[in-house]
Amino acid sequence: MPHIFLYGPPGTGKSTVGKILARNLKLPFVDLDRIIEKNAGMPISLIVEQQGELMFRNFETSTLKALADETESVVALGGGALLRDENRSFAESHGEVILLIAKLETLLERLNEDSMKRPLLSGDLGEKLSSLLAKRYEHYASFTNQVYVDRKTSDQNALQIQTALGRFHLSAMGEYDAIVQNHGMEQTGELCTSRGLRNPIIVTDENVARFYGEKIMLSLRNAGMDSDLFTIPAGEGHKTLNTVNHIWNAFLKAGLDRKSTVIAFGGGVVCDLAGFAASTFMRGVCWVAVPTTLLAMVDASLGGKTGIDLPEGKNLVGSFYPPKLVLADSQALKSLPGPELISGLAEVVKHGIISDPQLFNLCGRGLDWVGNNLDEVVRRAMAVKIKVIEEDPYEKGVRAVLNFGHTVGHAVELVSGFRLRHGEAVSIGMVAEAKLAERLTVAGQGLSDAISESLSELGLPIHIPKDLPRAELIRAMRVDKKKSNGDIRFALPVEIGKVVLVDVADLEMALEGS
Ligand SMILES: NC(=O)c1ccc[n+]([C@@H]2O[C@H](COP(=O)([O-])OP(=O)(O)OC[C@H]3O[C@@H](n4cnc5c(N)ncnc54)[C@H](O)[C@@H]3O)[C@@H](O)[C@H]2O)c1
Repeated sequence: MPHIFLYGPPGTGKSTVGKILARNLKLPFVDLDRIIEKNAGMPISLIVEQQGELMFRNFETSTLKALADETESVVALGGGALLRDENRSFAESHGEVILLIAKLETLLERLNEDSMKRPLLSGDLGEKLSSLLAKRYEHYASFTNQVYVDRKTSDQNALQIQTALGRFHLSAMGEYDAIVQNHGMEQTGELCTSRGLRNPIIVTDENVARFYGEKIMLSLRNAGMDSDLFTIPAGEGHKTLNTVNHIWNAFLKAGLDRKSTVIAFGGGVVCDLAGFAASTFMRGVCWVAVPTTLLAMVDASLGGKTGIDLPEGKNLVGSFYPPKLVLADSQALKSLPGPELISGLAEVVKHGIISDPQLFNLCGRGLDWVGNNLDEVVRRAMAVKIKVIEEDPYEKGVRAVLNFGHTVGHAVELVSGFRLRHGEAVSIGMVAEAKLAERLTVAGQGLSDAISESLSELGLPIHIPKDLPRAELIRAMRVDKKKSNGDIRFALPVEIGKVVLVDVADLEMALEGS
């Protein structure tokens, strides 16, 4: 498996952040300088003093190359470890290099605390560091994956790195990795076998099978696993017990046992259905989500909620049943019909409003920019959802912030007879609820305009269709989210990046001006 190499000038916190990153991802942590010291039996300062910098650099090369035989690890490198071309090509061919960078003042502040450990910077620290940074300027600038660490805690920096890498590990409900990987679909087999998953069956829908069925089968075959591909008809109308029955039968026909793995390969409908079928077959077999719509990548595949619809309503039967892996490949989005992509973007904007102002600003650049940067958009939006569900896996409290836009949105979706897509309804709901936040002085004036502008730039609707009767919308909101005292709990934005829960009695107010 590839390593994660943390690199950058001295003082950027590679070791401190590296330990947190390793803990978050459940990977071993390696501090290259500490291994060099252990092997040499003396501190680096003495190696340099007694044997010279060249000898230290030779130790560095041999110690780095020994990592070729190690399991995937987070590796903190010394500040000049990749100056040698052979070291750099080794690191780049054995993993991903993340460059940590910070302002000179930040570095000086941190280095002053432990200047004794940095022999190459002994003497006047400020002068030495400026000259070292000037000398290495082009070298550091040549790394593409850069993370700015100024004014952030080590925990925040670890999360920034995870978002840059598209690597997450969830542990609040089951233990599983969520990975965003360009062309990751082709790695499905390898990523399953490396987690001990075997005897897979793929459940997909007719559209996804047409585009990618062969590709995913080939990936499993290349990893030594033959698999059946069970295809269901596409669409919400098939998220029923009848379809689950067909899926169970396919499991039986394929000879699945309790150690088998179900791969849910498709949008939110397939993830919900196949996850539910996996959670109930033989009282639960392993499942993996390979989401192929934007909505499924940033929402439906994360959090372990599976389920089906009943004629009486959506998602009325289901289970909390976490997958063993979520693998999102933004390449899959290339074939997604435009309206489906745009609908998924409503949830992405929502995640930005909940807790990532930068994601919100990026979405504000419009559809073309977003379409060309889907990998980044998916990584950032996934990070937000994961942060929330890890805090509240079973929906006891803070997970309700994810409902922003959904109280009005669900009502609009329902009363429109589902002629609006979910994301379109949520977009309308977010604008209405932002206006409500302004009216209740939870948010300052102007927030709903900023949100409307961003959503319209992406081609999403922002007004409740005129033909939807207000009384029916209010009735639908009451049925959907009523609390015992008759109030409705809304998740309302305070500003971009912050949402609070507020109980509201007057529902007319939630629809005013929308
Ligand atoms: N479990 C959860 O936490 C959760 C959260 C949010 C939504 N959901 C559920 O997700 C469902 C909606 O998901 P959705 O929007 O992904 O809908 P979907 O699964 O119906 O997919 C939308 C359409 O896109 C097609 N498609 C999928 N991937 C494609 C690709 N890469 N290229 C071309 N076509 C592709 C599908 O065949 C379908 O026609 C709803 O049932 C909702 O309840 C679940």
